[in-house]
Amino acid sequence: MSRVFQLIPANPPLEESIPGRCRTCAVVGNSRNLLKSKYGPLIDFQDYVIRINMGHSKGFEADVGNRTTHQVMYPESSSQLDNTTRPVLFTFKMRDIQWIIKNISTQPSRKKPLFNKDLVMVVNPAFMRNIHHVWLQRKDYYPSTGFMSLVLALHICEEVHVFGFGADSDGNWSHYWANEPKNEVKTGGHPGNVEFEMIMALTKHKVIEFYNGR
Ligand code: C5P
Repeated sequence: MSRVFQLIPANPPLEESIPGRCRTCAVVGNSRNLLKSKYGPLIDFQDYVIRINMGHSKGFEADVGNRTTHQVMYPESSSQLDNTTRPVLFTFKMRDIQWIIKNISTQPSRKKPLFNKDLVMVVNPAFMRNIHHVWLQRKDYYPSTGFMSLVLALHICEEVHVFGFGADSDGNWSHYWANEPKNEVKTGGHPGNVEFEMIMALTKHKVIEFYNGR
């Protein structure tokens, strides 16, 4: 961790609030309910567009938009980011920390860096623990990246618009870009039902704006 603190600024480079108006966020999960939704323009309209893991635009612009200001990811789910996208890195295991160090240390041999190291934001593991223990009552193994991204958005934006969350009718977290065999995805160790109930409660109380998709 001390190496990480040598490489990244201790304070995240968050912009100041915008006087006289709300900062808006689109949190874009990877659900297949985005397909044919035509949410693209609405997603791109928000100040921040937060995508998750392998969530991407190419080929799906009409439904998912084409701007990405933040990409939340782990070493196992990382993808090549463009130079202006801020990588948001949650850490809970040694590999996460080693991977950050590897990718932000100077590596002249690497032709194209995975992301712009000057934009990296590393989230304190205590944040993840809080979400698991307090928000999700310690259900299942750990919170999904999507749910953590949503809670993060509540901290950095005044208005949070949530897209692409929701399992298919068999309870699988299937992805908008893949044709996955039924029942092979499930919710992978995350408390999918508890998370979704919480998202519905936040919607009911108008804390977030939730978009069902199709
Ligand atoms: O599967 P992956 O973790 O990459 O998807 C990103 C997030 O989107 C998940 O962590 C989950 O919170 C949400 N998701 C969902 N329903 C799906 C697929 C993903 O709610 N069908």
